[in-house]
Amino acid sequence: MSVADLGNPKVAYASQLGTAWIGDAIETLGEVCEDESVDLIVTSPPFALQRPKEYGNESQEAYTEWFLSFADEFWRVLKPTGSLVIDLGGAWEGGLSRLTGLPQACSR
Ligand SMILES: C[S@@+](CC[C@H](N)C(=O)[O-])C[C@H]1O[C@@H](n2cnc3c(N)ncnc32)[C@H](O)[C@@H]1O
Repeated sequence: MSVADLGNPKVAYASQLGTAWIGDAIETLGEVCEDESVDLIVTSPPFALQRPKEYGNESQEAYTEWFLSFADEFWRVLKPTGSLVIDLGGAWEGGLSRLTGLPQACSR
């Protein structure tokens, strides 16, 4: 399923301990999460692969800029004491280091 097919954020599961949502991450964060309300974000976003997957991957050139739209929402919803864990992989391209700006961009 592509992100475009997800539609509006929907509750996938709810219990006394909390609620799991399914939807576009940026849209869902915007609708569900108050400013500075989140203790921990764990994400495994699409990687900047040379051979894109079915669900879609940004090119290596566009990747950091694309990821920053998520980083803005992460900053908004995380508590000042909150943590962000990113599972990030990529494809080696000899002599180039495409993701070097990412840690700095996410740690404003
Ligand atoms: C690298 S895969 C992660 C796979 C997962 N960690 C695993 O091990 O199976 C990235 C996933 O993010 C999803 N995705 C991409 N953009 C998204 C978005 N804006 N909101 C929510 N999910 C998104 C893709 O559909 C894909 O399933």
